[in-house]
Amino acid sequence: MAGAGGYEEYAFIADLYDHVVLYRDRPDVTFFVEAAKKAGSPVLEVGCGTGRVLIPTARAGLDIVGLDLSQHMLTVCRRRLQDEPEAVQARVQLVQADMRRFELGQVFTLVTIPFRPFQHLLTVEDQLACLGSIRRYLVEGGTLILDVFNPSLDFLVNRPVGGEFAEEPEFCVPDGRRVTRRHKTVAHDRFNQVNDFELVYDVRHPDGREERLVHSFPLRYLFRFEVEHLLARAGFAIEHLYAGYDKSEYGSTYPGELLFVARRADS
Ligand SMILES: C[S@@+](CC[C@H](N)C(=O)[O-])C[C@H]1O[C@@H](n2cnc3c(N)ncnc32)[C@H](O)[C@@H]1O
Repeated sequence: MAGAGGYEEYAFIADLYDHVVLYRDRPDVTFFVEAAKKAGSPVLEVGCGTGRVLIPTARAGLDIVGLDLSQHMLTVCRRRLQDEPEAVQARVQLVQADMRRFELGQVFTLVTIPFRPFQHLLTVEDQLACLGSIRRYLVEGGTLILDVFNPSLDFLVNRPVGGEFAEEPEFCVPDGRRVTRRHKTVAHDRFNQVNDFELVYDVRHPDGREERLVHSFPLRYLFRFEVEHLLARAGFAIEHLYAGYDKSEYGSTYPGELLFVARRADS
């Protein structure tokens, strides 16, 4: 399905996602679980993927709805949930929908978009449609947590288009495959702030066969003040801007994250 950043197009991503070292070790889960505990139920996670954040949130006792456009990612999430105690499963509801326009039967105290799904939205129109949909499903004074990466100017200017970079540590899949992954920028559209990326997975099968799998997707980068303007336009008031999940303040490290905590603004 178009618009899901390749997560629907390439079934292999959902299969490998939870084993990728950078995802498995991503230091954001505690931040999101603590935010959910502070806000209380119910929570909506937009772009919930395989449940990397959603499942620990449900384990912490929160009722959570996970929304994602990719059936493949949701299938893995459902499979993972089957290994959880019934009480945890009962706290989770999964919905296949587009974050730009969705209909849900309840409102939420907290909406989160962990690990950059928002950057799969390439136009201001789509970004505002998403923020507008989220706002409609937030209780008065409810909180939105939105994280995107802070674009590194050095990286944007100096990284050659076409070259592979950032080889990651090898990881193993339970079926015996061993995988290494590299990144590649295929094109950089400076006018629309979109990079065409490839995540290149080199897979070695247990029988020695080698295979290359490629996840191609465009990713929009956003600058700090741009997100602030978007949030204001969409009816949010920013409470915090952090550079990392340890709540380090924006400006304390470069490039860091753009981790926004915003409240639904009501006049
Ligand atoms: C990098 S993954 C993040 C998954 C999860 N939040 C995590 O932290 O592991 C991005 C997710 O965004 C989802 N996504 C991309 N575009 C979407 C859209 N338009 N509507 C809903 N989900 C979308 C993808 O299917 C994918 O699961």
